[in-house]
Amino acid sequence: VVVPQPPEKLLGFTAVAKNLSDVVTVPAGYTASILYALGDPLSAATPAFKNDGSDSDYENRAGDHHDGMEFFGLSADGKPSTTSVERGLLGVNHEATTNQALSSFFIHTDGGSNTLPRPAAEIDKETALHGVSFVEVRKTGGKWEYVKDSAFNRRLTCLTPCEISGPVSGNALLVTKFSKTGTTTRGTLNNCGTGKTPWGSFVSGEENWSGYFTRAKTDDAARGNDKSVASLKRYGRSQGAASRHGWESGGSDDKYARWNNSKLGASTDGSDDYRNEMNGMGYILEADPYNKGKAAKKRTALGRYAHESAAFGKLVAGQPLAVYMGDDSRNEYIYKFVSTALWNAADANPADMLATGDKYLDKGKLYVAKFTADGSGSWIELSIGNPLIAAYAGYTFADQADVLVNARLAGDAVGATKMDRPEWCSVNPANGEVYFSLTNNSNRNVNASGSSQLAPDSANPRAYTDMKGNSAQNGNPNGHILRVKEGSGGAAALVFSWDVYLFGAESGADAGKVNLSSLTSDQDFSSPDGLAFSPSTGICWIQTDDGAYTDVTNCMMLAGLPGQVGDGKKVTLSYPTNAGAPLVVDTFVGKAATPDTLKRFLVGPIDSEITGICETPDGKALFVNIQHPGEGTNQANIADPSKYLSQWPSNAGYGAGKRPRSATIVITKNDGGRIGS
Ligand code: FEO
Ligand code: CA
Ligand code: CA
Ligand code: CA
Repeated sequence: VVVPQPPEKLLGFTAVAKNLSDVVTVPAGYTASILYALGDPLSAATPAFKNDGSDSDYENRAGDHHDGMEFFGLSADGKPSTTSVERGLLGVNHEATTNQALSSFFIHTDGGSNTLPRPAAEIDKETALHGVSFVEVRKTGGKWEYVKDSAFNRRLTCLTPCEISGPVSGNALLVTKFSKTGTTTRGTLNNCGTGKTPWGSFVSGEENWSGYFTRAKTDDAARGNDKSVASLKRYGRSQGAASRHGWESGGSDDKYARWNNSKLGASTDGSDDYRNEMNGMGYILEADPYNKGKAAKKRTALGRYAHESAAFGKLVAGQPLAVYMGDDSRNEYIYKFVSTALWNAADANPADMLATGDKYLDKGKLYVAKFTADGSGSWIELSIGNPLIAAYAGYTFADQADVLVNARLAGDAVGATKMDRPEWCSVNPANGEVYFSLTNNSNRNVNASGSSQLAPDSANPRAYTDMKGNSAQNGNPNGHILRVKEGSGGAAALVFSWDVYLFGAESGADAGKVNLSSLTSDQDFSSPDGLAFSPSTGICWIQTDDGAYTDVTNCMMLAGLPGQVGDGKKVTLSYPTNAGAPLVVDTFVGKAATPDTLKRFLVGPIDSEITGICETPDGKALFVNIQHPGEGTNQANIADPSKYLSQWPSNAGYGAGKRPRSATIVITKNDGGRIGS
C-alpha cells in the first residue's frame, strides 16, 4: 500500500491543551458537530427522543455507549461505494449502558430499580440498547446529518438471532434450548472494537459479555464438577456470580431465562436449559452493513475471548490473510488468525460479503503471541495437535472447537505472554507493522508472588504507584502501545520483532523510569485504548480511556506519525524489591516523540471515554465516538440535572433533556482540508 503524499503538512494544527471542560475541544480551524446520539430515532415512525427516561422502542433508536465504528460508502443511487465522500453508512458498536448498580439509570424516568427481580419493562429497554447500529449519514448543504428514515437503518441487539459459523458451529458446547443443533445463538453483546474486512463488511468484537450472566451458588456440583467449571471460571464466572443487570430476573420467558448460565435441566447435552449459553458469546461478529436480510455470523475460527478490534494485515495476492486481535482483560493474550484461503483481489468487491467471509474467516489457524526479552517473539499455534494443549493438566480439550471456545486455556497451556490488557490493534499502511494498545494493568507488581499479580517483563516493563515514578511497586496505570514487525513469512510468519512505540505518561514523570517516550505537555496521555491508522493520511489516531490522569484532564485523542520497529533504543529498568536483589527488565522503546510526530488533537467532555474512529475516503470528515459522558453521576441525583457530572451533548445544543448521552461526532476542517493537517 502506498500512502499518498499529503498535500498539506500533517500535524500542522496547534495542540489542544489538557482540560476538564464539559465540551469537545478540537484545534483552531476545526469544527466538531454532534451527529448521532443515544436514543435518536432510526425510523420515520419512531417518536423524537425526549431524554427524560420515558422513551422506549430502543430497537428503533440509537443504542448506548457508542464504541468502535466503521464507514461504508454509498453512491448517489444507494449502492456500495468505496469512493463516496458525501454519503455512507456508519456501523456503530453499542457496548454497554451507564450503571453503578443493576439499573441503566439514565434511561429510566426515576433511575430504575436495583433490586431483584427487576421490572421486565426496564430489562427490555436495556437489552435493546446493546448491540450494533447501522445508520445512514450524508452531507447536505455542507452539513453532515444522520438520515432518520433511511431504509438502510438497522439495529442488532443482544437478542437478535446470529449464526455460529466456522469450526465451533454444531459443536456440543453450543447446544442450548434455543439452538438444539448448536448452530445459532441470540444476540451480540458488549461490542467494543471494530474492523473492516478487505471485502468491505463490518466486524465487531464481543468483549465483557461474561458479566451479563449469572450462575447459581451450587452450579459446580449441579454440573458434576465437570470440565465446564474450569472453563466458566477462566472466563470470569465462578458459581454464585451475580449478573451485571439482573436481566435473568425478568420472568420465565426465554429472553430473560437465557441470562442464567446454570445447569437447571435434566438433559445431558444442555438442550433443555442455558448452561452452554455463554459459549455463544465472545467472538468476532461479521455483518453485511448493506443487507438487512442477512443474519450476522460469529466467526469462531478467530477464538473466543474478550475481543476488541480485528485488524487485517497488509494484503498480498496469493498469500493468506492475517487478522490481529487482543483479549482485553488483565494478563490476557494477543492473537493472530491466518486464513487457509489465499487472497484473491477479485474478492475485494463481492456480490455476497458474508459468503466471502465464509471463505477467509471460517478456515485457518489461530496463534497466540509469546514475547522474548531480546526484542523478538513467536506465534504459537493453538492446535489440538500441539502436545502442550493435548496433554494440558488444567483442562482436557476434546477437539479443535473446544480449543477455540477455550482459547484462554489453550494460551495458558502453551505459555503465551500475559499482557497489560490488549485493547485495539491496527496495521500501519506504510509498512504493515501491527500496533497494539496495552491500556493499563493494575496486576503488574514488582513483588509479585504469583496468583493474579505478575512481575514486569520486557513487553510489559513498567510497574509504579507514584505517577512520577518515585516508588516502584504495583500497576502499569498509564499503559503503552506495542508494535510488531512480522518476519519474512509475512502474514504466515511464525516469528516477529517488536518494540514499544509509546509509553503513556504524565509529562512531569521521571524520564528514566516512567516517561520513557519523552512526552511533553502537548503530547502526554494515559491509558491508550482506541487505536486506528487513517487509510488517507497514515496518521495513527490514539484514543484514551483513562482513570489515572482524569484529575488533570478529560480523555483525549492524539495524532501520531510513527516510525518503525527498532528506530529507538534499548532501555534497562531496575526496580528495588522486597526480596533485596533488584528486578532488572530490558525493554525497547521507539524514537522519542517530537512536536512533528505526536500532538493532542481532541479532549472530550467530563467523564467520557473517546473511542471509535473512521473517516470518509478523502480523509476530510472524521467520525469519532464520545462514550458515556457523566458516567460517574450518582443515580440518587437522577431528578436533579444540576448534579449530573456532564450535560453533554445538550449543553452543546443537541437534543432535548439534560441527561448526558453517548454520541457520534463528525469533525471537519474549516478550510476543507484533511483531518490532522
Ligand atoms: Fe470496551 Fe476494552 O474496551
Ligand atoms: Ca476499548
Ligand atoms: Ca478501555
Ligand atoms: Ca468505557
